[in-house]
Amino acid sequence: MTTAFDDAILSLALARVAEEAALACRPLIGRGDEKAADQAAVNAMREELNKLDIQGTVVIGEGERDEAPMLYIGEEVGSGKGPEVDIALDPLEGTTITAKAMPNALTVISMAPRGTMLHAPDVYMDKLAVGPGYPEDVVSLDMSPTERVEALAKAKGVAPSEITVCVLERPRHEEIIAELRGLGASVYLIGDGDVAGVMHCTDPDATGIDMYMGSGGAPEGVLAAGALKALGGQIWGRLLFRNDDERGRAEKAGITDFDRIYSRDEMVTDDVIFAATGVTQGSLVAGLKPRGDFIETQTLLLRSSTGERRVMTCRHKVA
Ligand code: FBP
Repeated sequence: MTTAFDDAILSLALARVAEEAALACRPLIGRGDEKAADQAAVNAMREELNKLDIQGTVVIGEGERDEAPMLYIGEEVGSGKGPEVDIALDPLEGTTITAKAMPNALTVISMAPRGTMLHAPDVYMDKLAVGPGYPEDVVSLDMSPTERVEALAKAKGVAPSEITVCVLERPRHEEIIAELRGLGASVYLIGDGDVAGVMHCTDPDATGIDMYMGSGGAPEGVLAAGALKALGGQIWGRLLFRNDDERGRAEKAGITDFDRIYSRDEMVTDDVIFAATGVTQGSLVAGLKPRGDFIETQTLLLRSSTGERRVMTCRHKVA
């Protein structure tokens, strides 16, 4: 018999998984070795996940089986007892920023009943997100950046110059950035970490960010969709393919319509739980902090079924 998805209990277990992954990264912060940091997070996350009484399948993971030996897409995790669940994870969201000891590196994981998360391949996704309180489809991926800002400004009752848009700083976004600035909007550039970038739209009073746009990893898009399901707000994503190999990956994941725009609730169709622990100091959660014989972690824990948003601080004894 399959056990029901008890999100209240599972969410606390998920927080521990995110915490352990973050703790494992600590010796690698600022050491210039992205791969080692990522590997440490992967190992710890996998070990903790395998302690849980779940029948878990990694749907968003470290990559295809042939390129990622652990936490690859399709890997079964958990004890094999308990609810059947989908797991989306990014053991270290911000490998480069961890290696450089820069802000906003997180460990991220989410869980939902089996068959309810988009199996996004490891390709880019064009993303657009806004916070809660706006009419459905207030902006769209088919609009130009100018049209998006104008529509959001109208809905917010402010001038376009009062809108702040978060964008990943990449050469591929230069045109978008120039267009937004030409319109008088403010552009909040981030170096990495668009899961957090998208999440920042959900609390514009605190973050100053109204909208997120631009391309980034598709897996991160699904993770962000899960977070927004709990925090409120809308996100849309369209997969971007650079070659046939990437289209082949999508086909393998069961995707047939390559131009489809996925809404938040199409990326994550049922209740979801989401945990993110800070590795380096961040705007969503604090980074790892030494406290005598302990290391302190801070974890954001979300449940979409209730809209609960917990920020948990925990002291861990240094081994
Ligand atoms: P890593 O955790 O792999 O370093 O990813 C960080 C990230 O900035 C994501 O948040 C984002 O979706 C993606 O990389 C963008 O990819 P690219 O660096 O190729 O533009």
